[in-house]
Amino acid sequence: MDNKIKDIVIAFDGHSSCGKSTVAKAVAKELDYVFIDSGAMYRAVTYLAIKKQLINGKKIDIPSLKKAVDFIKIGFVKNNETGQQETFLNGKNIEKEIRGIEVSESVSYISELDFVRTKLVALQQEMGINKKIVMDGRDIGTVVFPDAELKFFMTASADVRAQRRYKELTEKGDDVTFEEIKQNLEKRDYIDQNREISPLKKADDAIVLDNSSLTPKEQLDWVMEKIFNL
Ligand code: DC
Repeated sequence: MDNKIKDIVIAFDGHSSCGKSTVAKAVAKELDYVFIDSGAMYRAVTYLAIKKQLINGKKIDIPSLKKAVDFIKIGFVKNNETGQQETFLNGKNIEKEIRGIEVSESVSYISELDFVRTKLVALQQEMGINKKIVMDGRDIGTVVFPDAELKFFMTASADVRAQRRYKELTEKGDDVTFEEIKQNLEKRDYIDQNREISPLKKADDAIVLDNSSLTPKEQLDWVMEKIFNL
């Protein structure tokens, strides 16, 4: 595809498990842009909290987590075999660990914390300093890059999203039920939309994309058309 656009920031926000990363990744590939999965960063902090036993249910050891977050290093490295980007925390590959249900169950509590958001938003803004970036998350178009040239707000029905996530996890061998997945994503949607700091909401200038009945290819074509008509 002829790359006619240059140096912009593209934001994908939306509900849990609606395929934001899939489309954001594909767009970045088409444009030769950097793709950043901001959710992986909140998952990395959550993994750290679990590993260091700083979280128990909703109870979090705030002073200790604050210290750990001050020195945190989160990076993304492309796996040469799969071509996929993987998440590194303080030099260790944690891609597999952060996708499991244990991290998914706790991540909403960690991402509600102001000092976590302040730190991660600053890191994300740094990553986008030279533009040419596609970032997906919950607050990218509203808080991280409010001046992004193009913003999408994605959604799909809870059943469709749970089914996709269930398939993805069971194919990887995870022992999960459809109901468990659906409840988890509905709970995360609720917390994401109702938290005090940077709740999930559509930016006024975001384009809504409901992909309940779109194939990945149809979705990518739809998005690329918007980009080239910018
Ligand atoms: O995109 P994801 O489902 O992997 O994100 C994991 C969690 O991180 C999600 O439940 C909400 C939180 N998150 C956030 O609060 N802000 C972001 N920009 C990205 C994710």
